Amino acid sequence: MKRVFIKTFGCQMNVHDSEVMAGLLIEGGYGITEDLPEADVVLLNTCCIRQKAEEKVYSQLGVLKGFKRRRPHLVIGVGGCMAQLEGRRLLERAPVVDFVFGTHKVFELPDILDRAIAARGEPRLRREGSKIISIEEGGSLWGGVKPRRKSKISAYVTIMRGCDNSCSYCIVPYVRGRQKSRPSQEIVEEIEDLNSRGYKEVTLLGQNVNSYKSQLDFADLLREVNEIKGIERIRYISSHPRDMTDKLIKVLPELSKVCEHIHLPVQSGSNRVLSRMNRGYTRESYLKIVAKLRKLIPHISITTDIIVGFPGESEADFADTMSLMEEVVFDGAFVFRYSPRSGTRAASMPEQVLDEIKIGRIKKIIEIQAGITRQANERLIGKTLKVLVEGPSKPDPRRLAGRSRSNKVVVFEGPSDLVGMLVPVRVAKAHTWALEGEIPVNGNHLPNDEECCIMQETRRIKGGMG
Ligand code: 5AD
Ligand code: SF4
Repeated sequence: MKRVFIKTFGCQMNVHDSEVMAGLLIEGGYGITEDLPEADVVLLNTCCIRQKAEEKVYSQLGVLKGFKRRRPHLVIGVGGCMAQLEGRRLLERAPVVDFVFGTHKVFELPDILDRAIAARGEPRLRREGSKIISIEEGGSLWGGVKPRRKSKISAYVTIMRGCDNSCSYCIVPYVRGRQKSRPSQEIVEEIEDLNSRGYKEVTLLGQNVNSYKSQLDFADLLREVNEIKGIERIRYISSHPRDMTDKLIKVLPELSKVCEHIHLPVQSGSNRVLSRMNRGYTRESYLKIVAKLRKLIPHISITTDIIVGFPGESEADFADTMSLMEEVVFDGAFVFRYSPRSGTRAASMPEQVLDEIKIGRIKKIIEIQAGITRQANERLIGKTLKVLVEGPSKPDPRRLAGRSRSNKVVVFEGPSDLVGMLVPVRVAKAHTWALEGEIPVNGNHLPNDEECCIMQETRRIKGGMG
């Protein structure tokens, strides 16, 4: 059996696409390995959202070139967003690549790989011509395949592909195509299946989940998913401020499983920049959404994405972004330097901002946000959070790590039997990256029955451990 090693670059959509690829390959008779030296095939699932993401892929291909010299039979394929965008150029720039397949071709991967392996045996002269490239649109979108998920507790579920927005800086609509929503029945069936296999949490994935539209809208889809027994937590990512309807905001607190966290990319605090970005909302309307969310869900955690150095961003515009951050008090922010993407409107705007200015601004904003995140986390000291235990903590495998409903990483000591369970953890220390805490001996302060039961269950296990 040929073994495939998959390396993923980029966002959660890509992480899940790689899980889908792995599932398809297993069905197609391939094996999956986590160990590069064992691999007969290496697949890179790529991202092209910023220049840096592309550079990382080329640097990885440089490493693989040396590796292939020692293992001439190795087959190398490049898929995902950068493959879709670059196509044949990628083969020319990196001859070590045997085949390229785009974002619309994921479901044909086993066939494409079969062909690439067969082509490898061809006489040397014909080899150049046999390089396979597969990026044209068409084919299956959802496939009915069983993704091979790494986690046994928390699962990504795709609810849509593509994006109909046209933010002037963004390459995504060019590589992922128009928005297509997955039929809600299929989504519900997939989650029911996940439940029967013991999953506790699902994250609904899409470029812009709150513009989901099948026979249901996103609010009604959440209602349906909330009804699925067994699943304890529902997350969703990413939401667009323009599509935060009152209906959706009102439904969120009514659904007991929908977690108190929203990732709501603001991108900039300046109306002038937001308009040039073509985001479709203003600073004021964004702040109104935040106020509505906080009124109905007081403990909601709000995270965001910010771009600094968008073309024409002045010191005053940048100051608006900083003041917005102070005003909103985000729980966390991903901050990016604007990266011109060829073919997008912003790339050809005059007044591109110099790199050193972008670097100065990103440093400043990261510092501000680090202070805000820390303060937001410090407010949780002494509070008890319900944590879904994911496994050993990566930086300290002797301890366990999980997430609160508000999506904070919580690290604590406990027996490994707690993995996959919901446990109460009292926060003792706050950092920007995580919270540290302990399982309280007495959990009477937990407010509802469900949590008290979990408390007893935890005590039982702790008791069992002596
Ligand atoms: N340059 C920098 N950041 C970008 N993003 C998208 N396109 C670009 C770009 N050209 C950021 C946005 C988006 C996140 C996923 O990536 O903040 O929300
Ligand atoms: Fe890009 Fe805007 Fe679509 Fe997000 S909503 S993927 S930023 S075009």
